[in-house]
Amino acid sequence: MSEERITQSSAAPMEEKQETTLRPQHLEDFIGQKTAKENLRIFIEAAKLRGEPLDHVLFYGPPGLGKTTLAGIIANELGVDIKITSGPAIERAGDLAAILTNLNENDVLFIDEIHRLNRSVEEVLYSAMEDFALDIIIGKGPSARSIRLDIAKFTLIGATTRAGSLSAPLRDRFGVISKFELYDTEELAEIIRRSASLLNIETDTDSLCEMAKCSRGTPRVANRLLKRMRDFSQVRGSGVIDAEITRKGLAALGVDELGLERLDREILTTIIERFNGGPVGIDTIAASIGEERVTIEDAYEPYLIQSGLLYRTQKGRMVSQLGYRHMGLDFPGTEDEAEPEEEAVQEKLF
Ligand SMILES: Nc1ncnc2c1ncn2[C@@H]1O[C@H](COP(=O)(O)OP(=O)(O)O)[C@@H](O)[C@H]1O
Ligand SMILES: [Mg+2]
Repeated sequence: MSEERITQSSAAPMEEKQETTLRPQHLEDFIGQKTAKENLRIFIEAAKLRGEPLDHVLFYGPPGLGKTTLAGIIANELGVDIKITSGPAIERAGDLAAILTNLNENDVLFIDEIHRLNRSVEEVLYSAMEDFALDIIIGKGPSARSIRLDIAKFTLIGATTRAGSLSAPLRDRFGVISKFELYDTEELAEIIRRSASLLNIETDTDSLCEMAKCSRGTPRVANRLLKRMRDFSQVRGSGVIDAEITRKGLAALGVDELGLERLDREILTTIIERFNGGPVGIDTIAASIGEERVTIEDAYEPYLIQSGLLYRTQKGRMVSQLGYRHMGLDFPGTEDEAEPEEEAVQEKLF
């Protein structure tokens, strides 16, 4: 994956740092995800009143929707420190024990990509989450014994793009489980407006709307588009981002009016041209376009499905009538075939 993708929803390495300036610090600045936010507001308030740690929280949903951001906000609102790590970074049980024993009372431990914790580490986490204790084995063979070590009470916030990959015992130890949804155009326009003001970029209302529509429901993409449009406006325009600059800029980046880029279109055309519009299995699609299955599932499919261009059925993925039309092609089937049963489309998560 050498080419830079403007609409890619995961963060590029350099971008991670720059994002910190745009990350909201307080709940009231966090736009959208209303249900999750309102519930958290109450749980945070209650935990503070009782002087106890917040219950363990699990966030799941596609990349770039604000999981890391909201974890930071929670710690900030609780007035505690946050320690940030990730599933793959914690290699051995001892690594996790070291992290846990260094936490202070009521602190937040954020584990990103928590579905990628290995088994032995995960097991240490169970007693830590449940009893705020570590079970440590001392010695080897017949003389080995286990001792229990108390640790500070803490809040674990786990984030994952794949809730389905989490083991049941781990999932059950979270008191609060929140699903992140793709953002609507108004929310994205608001996020872009906020970022533009933080970065001192001038935009007009039409361009905000235009960028929002092309952001694939994802704040990270929205912020990235804003920065690229700033480049276009400074080099090709007056420095102000207006609708015309935005349209030209998006076209130059190969982003269409729905925010689709090359790989999205390739997914749709592959299914249409090589598999008669589907149904076709995800692994077959991945192999055909030479992309990882998880990338397609996590980063591309959610938006294609939300836009009504693609369906997920029990037999595989299908391009909808709208999908054909978006690609400028005639839909070969009947209206009926284009609308598979809703329940077949729903993925079973829990
Ligand atoms: N609700 C939101 N309001 C404002 N900005 C947001 C929101 N959600 C995400 N962002 C912005 O999008 C970027 C990516 O968010 P992040 O928390 O890293 O996503 P995730 O952890 O889900 O991949 C952040 O830089 C943040 O500024
Ligand atoms: Mg993140």
